[in-house]
Amino acid sequence: MCGIVGYIGSKQAYPILMKGLYRLEYRGYDSAGIALLDGDLKLYKTKGKVTDLEGFVSGKSIEGTIGIGHTRWATHGEPNNVNAHPHFSQSQNLAIIHNGIIENYASIKEELIKRGYKFSSDTDTEVLIHLIEDIKNNENVSLDEAVRIALNQVVGAYAIVIISKDEPNLLIAARKGSPLVVGIGDDDYYLASDAAPIAEYTQDVVYLNDEEIVSVRRGEEIKIRTVKNKNKTPYIQKLELNLTELEKGGFDHFMLKEINEQPSSILDSMRGRLNAKKGIVKLGGIIDYEQKMANAKRITIIACGTSWHAALVGEYLFEDLARTHVEVEYASEFRYRNPIINEDDIVIAISQSGETADTLAAIELAKSKGATIIGICNVVGSSIPRATHAGTYTHAGPEIGVASTKAFTAQVTILTLMALRIAKMKGTIETSRYFQLLNALESIPNKVKETLDVDDQIRTLARTFTYARNFLYLGRGYNFPVALEGALKLKEISYIHAEGYPAAEMKHGPIALIDSEMPVVVIATNKGTYEKVISNIQEVKARKGKIIAIVTKGDKDVKKLADYIIEVPETEEMLVPLLATIPLQLLSYHIAVMRDCNVDQPRNLAKSVTVE
Ligand code: G6P
Repeated sequence: MCGIVGYIGSKQAYPILMKGLYRLEYRGYDSAGIALLDGDLKLYKTKGKVTDLEGFVSGKSIEGTIGIGHTRWATHGEPNNVNAHPHFSQSQNLAIIHNGIIENYASIKEELIKRGYKFSSDTDTEVLIHLIEDIKNNENVSLDEAVRIALNQVVGAYAIVIISKDEPNLLIAARKGSPLVVGIGDDDYYLASDAAPIAEYTQDVVYLNDEEIVSVRRGEEIKIRTVKNKNKTPYIQKLELNLTELEKGGFDHFMLKEINEQPSSILDSMRGRLNAKKGIVKLGGIIDYEQKMANAKRITIIACGTSWHAALVGEYLFEDLARTHVEVEYASEFRYRNPIINEDDIVIAISQSGETADTLAAIELAKSKGATIIGICNVVGSSIPRATHAGTYTHAGPEIGVASTKAFTAQVTILTLMALRIAKMKGTIETSRYFQLLNALESIPNKVKETLDVDDQIRTLARTFTYARNFLYLGRGYNFPVALEGALKLKEISYIHAEGYPAAEMKHGPIALIDSEMPVVVIATNKGTYEKVISNIQEVKARKGKIIAIVTKGDKDVKKLADYIIEVPETEEMLVPLLATIPLQLLSYHIAVMRDCNVDQPRNLAKSVTVE
């Protein structure tokens, strides 16, 4: 949700900023801009993607060893040239980039208008920079003090960077609710929404905490203080980010690369945590809280989007294995209800980015009621792992395609490990069954590899359905969340309307939609409610719907009924989501490519949703 980047040092800022913006484009891509300081404060911005900005800037002056850049996902004001960031202050001496929402911008704007300020955009961000300049001039304070005073007046979320024409050696940045990392180079500094733009220049980073303001001055150490004016010592951490993970590595799209990475990303999620031979499941990050998890009468899982679908799989796993009562909640709903949560409760928060605003707010609410919060996140150092009591990283590696793929299977893998561990502690699983499941889990990466062989078959299938207007996805039990996730993937990247449904619920409504034009994807693997799902397939066939069935290798019964069959290897019922999801990811990918959609950056979406 908006990517921000800044540079100050001895190198030319422009190439660093542009490269950084490309790396952050997954966060938003409806407009982009940069400001460079070289005596003059030059500001270039345009509607469109970073490549449009590059075209726009071409031929113009790009000198300067200090600058800021932004790629936007619009909240206030439509995506156009004027609303793109950076925004100038009234005097044009200051420029700002911002990720987040200033909720009380309207009242501040009204006040500033009364005092003669003119606004050229519809954004909340422009209000903030005018306010900062107003304070700086009227209270005759330094820029960082003006920023601090202003931030005490605003309500909302922000990661900001400010550049000043009068101070060519200074960048001021601050965060609350939106991420910000400072990279510390030899004689330069980098600022960014995440570590991706920084990793190739330095491994030393400082993750800002909420309500911290950092003054980054060339030739001096960074200074951090809070908006309440408390000095903080910067905590420098070492980055562990492999640069090749940020490239497409020969694939046409990040999404395809990430789908294909799943044999190794699932393995990475389990690495050092699972020893099937010895019967060991060890999740180091939650060891101190395992007993509490085992004692809990109830676990609530909060998440959004794809992570919410992983949470649903988690519900079935914990109920089946650990016999713990589980509730799965959309974080955005949970945070505005009056949920009954108490001190014995365990709340698991799942998030790929670790930045989702609704999930963060839901965590804070559950924390305020005394619950213990366990995180399952992918992005190391992000906000959610820092807001939770304990947690486990999924270690799936950077996920750049906006539609989540490998993060989902990694989340399900971690949930499986957690449920198995808690089941073992509670004694709700027989030893032989426990070993059986550990062995089955250990063999999953190879089976995912085998599943990926369906790629060619799916590409052909995608040709048949490229122009379908609707899709229905059906599954039961563990395959119900898979159906939801399959439908979400298709919507996200191909813009085809798709619905996921529990197969048996279909007769209570969606069946009315079925005719010969309706493709129905049914996940009909051979365990659990297999026979029942066959009946549901019959119901679709009777109405001439086209059945695309995901079945277990060697299946005979569904084969007789389905129009198209996609086989996945045999595995335990509770591990099927890790395999059955793969063909659905590929199906949406190939359909989207054939429809000429921007697979990695689908319209209107952003990967990291830092606004509510
Ligand atoms: C956005 C992304 C989705 C993601 C959801 C939750 O909507 O586009 O792919 O599932 O946010 O994100 P999180 O980072 O919390 O898993």
